[in-house]
Amino acid sequence: MFGGLCMKGLVKETIAMSIIKWDPDMFSVKDPNIDDQHKTWISILNSLYNNLTAKGTAAQSRKILNAMLEYTQMHFATEEKLMLSIDYPKYKEHKVSHDRFIDKLTGLKHDLDAEDDILGIDLQHVLESWLKHWLVDHIINMDKQYSAYLPAK
Ligand SMILES: [Fe+2]
Ligand SMILES: [Fe+2]
Repeated sequence: MFGGLCMKGLVKETIAMSIIKWDPDMFSVKDPNIDDQHKTWISILNSLYNNLTAKGTAAQSRKILNAMLEYTQMHFATEEKLMLSIDYPKYKEHKVSHDRFIDKLTGLKHDLDAEDDILGIDLQHVLESWLKHWLVDHIINMDKQYSAYLPAK
C-alpha cells in the first residue's frame, strides 16, 4: 500500500490504456527486484493517465500522485543503496538526477495541493511531455548503465 492505494488495483486499471508498456528488451536492468519496481512505477504512471483520460476525479489524481511520489522515493533509495554496494563510479551524477526529479515532482504535488481544481491544470500534458519521457529516458540512459556493474544473478 502506498498513499492508500493498492498496487494490485493500479495494475488492473492499466489494462484499459497504457502510456508506457513494459518491454524487457528496452527496460530490463537484469535485476529482478529493480525490474519489478520499474514495472510498478510504470503501472502508477499508466493509472494516472487512465484516470485523466477517463475523466476520473481530482481526488483520485491526487491520490495517485502521492503514491507516485512515495513509490519513487522508495525506488530511488533502493537503487542508491544498490549502486553504493557495488561502488558504482557514476553514483554521484545518478543521485543528482534522482534528487532533481524528486524536487520537481514534489513541486508539482505542492502546486496541486494548493489548487482547488487540479483537473483544470493540464495534468495530461505534464504527464505526456515530462513524466513519461523522464522515466523512459532515465531507465534507458542511466539505470541500464549500472546494470553492467551488477554481479551476474
Ligand atoms: Fe535511477
Ligand atoms: Fe530506476
